[in-house]
Amino acid sequence: MVATTTSTSEGWSSRWAFILAAIGAAVGLGNIWRFPTLAGESGGGAFVIFYIGCVFLIGLPLILSEIFIGRAGQTDAVGSIKRVAAQSNASTNWSIFGAIGATAAFLILSFYSVVAGWVLYYAGVMGGDLLQAIGSGEPFRGALEGENQAQVQQRLTDMFANPGLLLAMHLAFMGATLFIVARGVHAGIEKAALYLMPMFFALLIGLVLYGAIEGDMGDAFTFLFTPDWSKLTPQVMNAALGQALFSLSLGVAGLITYGSYIKEGSGLGSTSALIAFADIGVALLAGLMIFPIVFAVGLDPAAGPTLVFQTLPFAFQTMPAGALFGFLFFVLILVAAVTSSISLLEVPTAWGIGERGWSRAKSATIFGGGAFVIGILCLLGYNVLSEVRPLGFWPLFENTDILDTIDGFTGKVMLPLGALLTSLFVGWKADRTLVRSVTGLSPLAFGLWRFLIAWLCPIAVAVILITGLFPGLL
Ligand code: PHE
Repeated sequence: MVATTTSTSEGWSSRWAFILAAIGAAVGLGNIWRFPTLAGESGGGAFVIFYIGCVFLIGLPLILSEIFIGRAGQTDAVGSIKRVAAQSNASTNWSIFGAIGATAAFLILSFYSVVAGWVLYYAGVMGGDLLQAIGSGEPFRGALEGENQAQVQQRLTDMFANPGLLLAMHLAFMGATLFIVARGVHAGIEKAALYLMPMFFALLIGLVLYGAIEGDMGDAFTFLFTPDWSKLTPQVMNAALGQALFSLSLGVAGLITYGSYIKEGSGLGSTSALIAFADIGVALLAGLMIFPIVFAVGLDPAAGPTLVFQTLPFAFQTMPAGALFGFLFFVLILVAAVTSSISLLEVPTAWGIGERGWSRAKSATIFGGGAFVIGILCLLGYNVLSEVRPLGFWPLFENTDILDTIDGFTGKVMLPLGALLTSLFVGWKADRTLVRSVTGLSPLAFGLWRFLIAWLCPIAVAVILITGLFPGLL
């Protein structure tokens, strides 16, 4: 039943290339935009601590499972699951979760590129402001000098009202993503990670130090790590697990696809742990970068999704060298977003190559182009199509615009479903000898991992999926 699947010959040039690319895929808007937003809205400490638990108890075992499938299957997600199933005497119908994952990745890419387009615009605004500051001989002045808070906020409103601007940014970002993916695993994805990830970490450390020196680190620490357990409602737990899955790129078959380009070696346990630590480390550092600045200027940490676009640019105004650091901040987010969007495009692209026999350029263009078109609908949802409610018949999405509907449907339905099926397949169906030999886990680590993947993950994810879909049950 697996005869139609062709192996891709592409591969990473080293173990570190894979690790950098996988960390690049995980670290993205989810860490720097979505995590601080949710932590701020959900009251901080209790959310953060529960989220950390989700990353290690549920996320980490799933990371290992996805990499295992890819490493063992050596082709796109659907083909890899079929191979592992065939070697384990299980039904190849399990490959359905590879298809769900590839579809989710495609849909997430459509709105991810739109949001990254906003970041691109802000990088441009802050870059222009920095150039002006340098031109006027004050390179270390604050950002957007002379604008009051209402004017700074108005920029976002104006941007949303301008479909042409949104479209241009979306096109530029999707174009860059497509360009990198079309060049291939080695010359495109790996190269991008090799250049961009060190740049990302240097910027991140620079900005955290800046926040520590100029901002209110003490308040930020208290806010992020002192739990008020009464705030841990079922909804907050639901959001925390969803955030863990999204941030680790789980449930979209991304790590199956990247894992299939590992040609030799095992030691997948330590590799998985490294990815989980890096992802959570960046999320926490992003919190420790953003909240000291927010608190130093006395702004509201619970501002929601606009925190990064309306609150922070204003905060950078009153801070020394705010023009410079404000610009660097948006460059940082942009870099993180590119290394994630290429992983999103790579999943369906690999499917087209492996299952349809398309060339890489053709496959990447079809899926990148398709996601671009859906993204246009998302961005029109902020202006000309603002009345449209794609799933308005469903109470959960009654008042949700196009972009948030795709975000909500993929995040609340497709990712948990993908994660649930992955854990059931690897925990119960995959041949244990195969798992042990491919992952290289010690007997103790294997026992622990199996308990988590076979019992804890499916139960926890099923609970989230059901409570997420039927909020009335809570
Ligand atoms: N993990 C990415 C982020 O944090 C988003 C993403 C989700 C990427 C799913 C790939 C797959 O931004």
